Amino acid sequence: MANSLLSFNRDKFWRRCAASQIADLESRVIDVATGTGELALELTKQNANREVVGIDFCQEMLVKAKTKLKGTPFVRNINFVLADAHHLPFPNGSFGAAFTSFALRDLYSLPESFQEMVRVVREGGKIICLELSLPQSRLFRLPYNFYLRTVVPLITHFLSIDREAYCEYLPWSIRELPSQEVMTQIMEEVGIKDIKIHRLTQGVAIIYAGRKRDDAMAKAGRQNNWR
Ligand SMILES: C[S@@+](CC[C@H](N)C(=O)[O-])C[C@H]1O[C@@H](n2cnc3c(N)ncnc32)[C@H](O)[C@@H]1O
Repeated sequence: MANSLLSFNRDKFWRRCAASQIADLESRVIDVATGTGELALELTKQNANREVVGIDFCQEMLVKAKTKLKGTPFVRNINFVLADAHHLPFPNGSFGAAFTSFALRDLYSLPESFQEMVRVVREGGKIICLELSLPQSRLFRLPYNFYLRTVVPLITHFLSIDREAYCEYLPWSIRELPSQEVMTQIMEEVGIKDIKIHRLTQGVAIIYAGRKRDDAMAKAGRQNNWR
């Protein structure tokens, strides 16, 4: 709820945009660091013939995700698995696409987690990452920084939500993320091609979308093959 309030409900729209990158794909899809399963849910809403596996290393998050799903028609399509993004317990090429949303800032090794996404996706499969970002335009950056520094603390105060998470970690982690150039380079190095960047809401959120290169499997597979 806090995320939706702080983003004026834009987070839902951003997840919709990310999920729409694979509009017609009906195969198995993985949502890495799924949290309470918001993106996993969106992925099944957009295509009911799709199976989604949401992984997260926090059991508490997965319990919330399962509770949210109970009683919805999507319960049959989504499975939640306790796992670390850096060591996915799935065979090579077992998914048609891999997603992650708002979690890049939390992962301790971007190259390792990207490499795992590449490994579990089949050749040509899509890898899509949605994350918060800093607006590129200076004009928009000023009000955005004001929002982060002044409005967010006020909202967290009134809602009595985790001050450290939203007032300190959130702005710090957005600033600490690699630039778009570096992020693209990391993705290319682990075997992702055709990388496209979509900036949403003046660049407050960003989608990196690419495809697994045909020769990526050999490298990733040698390093970590769960079969
Ligand atoms: C900000 S939440 C985002 C959740 C969700 N993807 C969304 O769109 O709302 C970040 C999530 O990443 C998870 N996470 C962080 N590091 C992880 C890791 N190494 N492996 C698996 N999950 C991780 C956290 O437990 C948390 O649920």
